[in-house]
Amino acid sequence: MKYTLSSSKNVSGEISVPGDKSISQRAFLLNSIANGIAHVGNICVGDDKASILRCLRSLGVSIVEHSNCKITNSKECFEVYGRGRFGMLEPSEILFAGNSGTAMRLIVGLLSASPFSSQITGDESLIKRPMGRIIKPLSSMGADISSKNGDDFPPLSIQGKQLQGIKYEMPISSAQVKSCLMIAALHSEGKSEIIQPSLSRDHTERMMSAMGGDVAQEGLKVIVNPSDLTSKDISVPGDISSAAFWMVLGCIHPESKIKITNIGINSTRLGIIDVLKSMNANLYLENEREINNEPVADVIVKSSDLTNIEISGDLVPRIIDELPILALAACFAKGQTVVKDASELKFKESDRILATVEGLSSLGADIIATDDGFVVNGGKKLTGGHCFSHGDHRIAMTMAIAGIMAEGVTTITGAEAVDVSYPMFWDTLKILCDALDLHKNE
Ligand code: S3P
Repeated sequence: MKYTLSSSKNVSGEISVPGDKSISQRAFLLNSIANGIAHVGNICVGDDKASILRCLRSLGVSIVEHSNCKITNSKECFEVYGRGRFGMLEPSEILFAGNSGTAMRLIVGLLSASPFSSQITGDESLIKRPMGRIIKPLSSMGADISSKNGDDFPPLSIQGKQLQGIKYEMPISSAQVKSCLMIAALHSEGKSEIIQPSLSRDHTERMMSAMGGDVAQEGLKVIVNPSDLTSKDISVPGDISSAAFWMVLGCIHPESKIKITNIGINSTRLGIIDVLKSMNANLYLENEREINNEPVADVIVKSSDLTNIEISGDLVPRIIDELPILALAACFAKGQTVVKDASELKFKESDRILATVEGLSSLGADIIATDDGFVVNGGKKLTGGHCFSHGDHRIAMTMAIAGIMAEGVTTITGAEAVDVSYPMFWDTLKILCDALDLHKNE
């Protein structure tokens, strides 16, 4: 599917975004292995939600949808009937995690410790994503996992085993790997210690402890002892990774004022706000509060004169999913922006170094790929053109925002990828952009 769009003179309004994708997936999974019944509301409504729900239901978890929930104060809510630790049932079919790396990696942690055999696969993109990073540490906990083609890529076959605790120094910073191991550790014999090279998102740590799990954080180390969880109602905060598209649009558009309400501002995810502020963004937070152990605020952003920045090291995991849209911000910043130490971008829903550089170059940006990131020389005008999503939701949305800023008409092929995390993206774009000329072609 293709979308075509062109620029808009004025961008303004108050909006909300879907619930955080990472928190939604953890809320479904951890409540599935907990004791009790939980309401999970304001979830991320994209295809990734459908993927994790499908897998958990195939494992025997009853998850019932209802509307207008007073407990989570949301229109769409899910009641998750926890089956307790070791309570999953042997699936009668191959589990299908769709496009979701988080769903696959977290569920494999659970399947490795569940007393039955199972198989899990994913879509065209997911079967190209590396699983050796979870297979290796899980195997040293005693897991029995094999990849169909012997190459550490899905499909995976798992024979559940009684696992042993692990002391593991992670070679890369990854919240998916950490969370996979934490879920396995809950089901293991003995203590586990997982040491991160730098801090990645800590939603699993927060949620597991709030549910009574024996979890402690000591700097970069996470310690997990086998323990039962108690179900917990969760109202998921708005996804900062989805809000990032509007934050950048607000900064780079010359006539803008956007308010985005109820955004999760967990410090392990705050890279985009810290970076935009260092780039001189006219952006501030209001109404800061805490909901279900996660900090939340409203974000206000206005037209800004951005300056360049260098991004590297420990900052990278805190902004990893926002680097494609940050590249667009850099196109409108004064000076040269450099992103380094971000080779993990190559292993996301697409090779995001290649997809970002190719997409923005096709609209005339001065951007080049490096081995572990990209370099952008700001100030070159964008002009309309043809670009491709590479089947990646964040690339499709980055190119749509670029299209709003480019002179002329921009066409995005594969724009349906947006549905993975943000099906209402186009409606919000129409709300914000004055007289938007947006067309959808099959
Ligand atoms: C996620 C972690 C990140 C991120 C992904 C979601 C998660 O990946 O890119 O979109 O929910 O744990 P890493 O595993 O590389 O940290």
